[in-house]
Amino acid sequence: MAVRRRPIENFTVTQAANVLGISPETLRRMDRRGDAAPSIREGKRRIYTAEDLGRLREMLSGRKRKATTAIALVNQKGGVGKTTITINLAGALATQGYRVLIVDFDPQANCSFGLGVLWNDLEASVADVLGYEVSGPTRQIAQIIRPAAQHPNLFLAPSHLNLAAAEMVVQNTMGREMKLDKALDEVRADYDFILVDSPPSLGLLSINAMVASDAVLIPIDGAFSLEGVRQLLNTRKGCAELSRHPIHVLGGVLNRQRAGTANAAAIMEMATAIFGKRMFQTVIPERTAVDGSTAARAPIVFSGLPEAEPYHALAEEVISSVVEITGN
Ligand SMILES: Nc1ncnc2c1ncn2[C@@H]1O[C@H](COP(=O)(O)OP(=O)(O)OP(=O)(O)O)[C@@H](O)[C@H]1O
Ligand SMILES: [Mg+2]
Repeated sequence: MAVRRRPIENFTVTQAANVLGISPETLRRMDRRGDAAPSIREGKRRIYTAEDLGRLREMLSGRKRKATTAIALVNQKGGVGKTTITINLAGALATQGYRVLIVDFDPQANCSFGLGVLWNDLEASVADVLGYEVSGPTRQIAQIIRPAAQHPNLFLAPSHLNLAAAEMVVQNTMGREMKLDKALDEVRADYDFILVDSPPSLGLLSINAMVASDAVLIPIDGAFSLEGVRQLLNTRKGCAELSRHPIHVLGGVLNRQRAGTANAAAIMEMATAIFGKRMFQTVIPERTAVDGSTAARAPIVFSGLPEAEPYHALAEEVISSVVEITGN
């Protein structure tokens, strides 16, 4: 009797991406880069076999970087997209297999909200790791970090409104600029990337975010948001001197742009005059689906919609820039 052979399971790009927990765009990009060649190519169709998937899964899980890179998202101008980019960039890195910690270092706690964590439900937050007992006993940062519900590689150190009170107390203490840096040292090795979201000011919280980081990423959405950038870059220099480790300019990124308009081109030119080759080529367009996704607690990067693509492209650029700048 003929032995019935189990049919070989094949997967389309979308099916394979689902199984791997990455976006189809990421899988296509990995294919273009030569990292993820499917066994079968039929014209434009790509077919992944179960064996391909095993190989890719191994590759993605082995994507441990040599060292952790902490990146502060800063701009003293409000509403430029710091929080939206923090969440979606972190999500894009997570889907590529990196372990990512988001530190919400803004008392507005928008980042926590965007990931479905509400400050008024929290027993402890980043405010409690600063050591001044504004809301309860001092905690180690590891005690307040929680897995994010959206992706197994994503973690969150949530914020709370009382981080504003903590900032005031810390203001008059020794080593006030280094509080977050010290707190993070305990957990750095557990992550490939740490992304720190900061408030719309150049105050002590943003300074702590920069001092705790290896690089800064600066979202810009128009001429006004560029105005303070030179001052911001000077503050970064001061932070680096104080912390005695380099704090690189990872880059500026344009957000909420309408492609093809004269205004968008003018802003890109002005931004490039400041950032030079550190201006990211990825431009994040103005999209209704993005606005509101944070408030709806459904980060666009996990949606599979085309609006997620710029964040994946930005993640690619961030990875290359980090390698170039820090050698990590
Ligand atoms: N690409 C985009 N297209 C449309 N809306 C966007 C986009 N990026 C961000 N937004 C919206 O712009 C608003 C401000 O974004 P976000 O909260 O990320 O900025 P922020 O710099 O963190 O603000 P703050 O300085 O108050 O912390 C939000 O309502 C957000 O949904
Ligand atoms: Mg914000």
